[in-house]
Amino acid sequence: MPRTFDLHSLTRALTVAGLVALAASPAQAQQGELVVYCNVQEEWCRPMVNAFEKATGIKVAMTRKSSGETYAQIKAEAANPRGDIWWGGTGDPHLQAAEEGLTEVYKSPKLADLHPWAVKQAEAAKFRTVGIYAGALGYSYNTDELKKRKLAEPKCWADLIKSDYKGEVQVANPNSSGTSYTMLATMVQIMGEDKAFDYLKAMHRNVNQYTKSGAAPARAVAIGETLTGITFLHDAVPNIIAGAPVKTVAPCEGTGYEIGSMSIIKGAKNMANAKKWYDWALSKEAQALAVDAKAYQLPSNKDAAVPAQAPKFADIKLIDYNFAKYGSSAERTRLLARWDKEVGALPK
Ligand code: G6P
Repeated sequence: MPRTFDLHSLTRALTVAGLVALAASPAQAQQGELVVYCNVQEEWCRPMVNAFEKATGIKVAMTRKSSGETYAQIKAEAANPRGDIWWGGTGDPHLQAAEEGLTEVYKSPKLADLHPWAVKQAEAAKFRTVGIYAGALGYSYNTDELKKRKLAEPKCWADLIKSDYKGEVQVANPNSSGTSYTMLATMVQIMGEDKAFDYLKAMHRNVNQYTKSGAAPARAVAIGETLTGITFLHDAVPNIIAGAPVKTVAPCEGTGYEIGSMSIIKGAKNMANAKKWYDWALSKEAQALAVDAKAYQLPSNKDAAVPAQAPKFADIKLIDYNFAKYGSSAERTRLLARWDKEVGALPK
């Protein structure tokens, strides 16, 4: 006998299934997921993600991008945020996002374990970001290529605009890269704005390529694709350790630095997990993963060991980089627009 269609039990079954589904989805999302926008090198993003997944059982979806790109992405997604945590990258775009309310206020219990410079970054952003590492800007050069060209060892920013260096300087585009924006803001602070733009225009004649990512020029130097590359000094260290013919320069005029930062994205769908990552990433244990990942920044946790190979701040003539000013929305937007108009648009 064919079964009769029992609308009542079907409705009941669907309701039960629906309730199960409803009960399961938020719970799964809560325990299970985290979307990380990672702005350091892929070689460091991966082990961080793996260690966090292992420690918490939370499944992480990670994408690696540059700092300026991530800022723009978070802004574009603000109405419907897709990311939860923005980990790493230079501090200026994190500060800009904080000022624009794109990131969440959070006071981690781990703040007490951090160096004053990292806490200062948090205070400047009214606790919408925090410092996770620091690194000084400079450049590296390929010693074999230098010898071939019979050039004296470069020591200063001024060397990079000499005619001997035509086509031999590589640096990222400051719109996509936080490293390159740090360079732009550093020049403005060292030389004054108009002289800095004259310098950047002169450097443009020597630039062979504006890369998307800030650290890319260090790799190009190591393989002799360019004679010099402007990056954070720590980005050249893995190549030197690997035996590449590379030397770094902490420029004689002085140089700027970054406070690599971390922020929780406003409206994060996995807010509880984002806070778990945040607290964990500030721990000594998580910061200790950097060295194995060949990342030689200064860690922000006071108890995390400083890698022996990290460039020594005491040996570098550092400027008193004005993070509040150059991380402000108006200043960063204005300087990038001026760079596009006066430098990026110049013919090569
Ligand atoms: C490299 C450096 C980091 C820096 C980051 C910025 O990964 O090691 O210290 O924060 O570049 O990247 P970006 O591509 O935005 O210049």
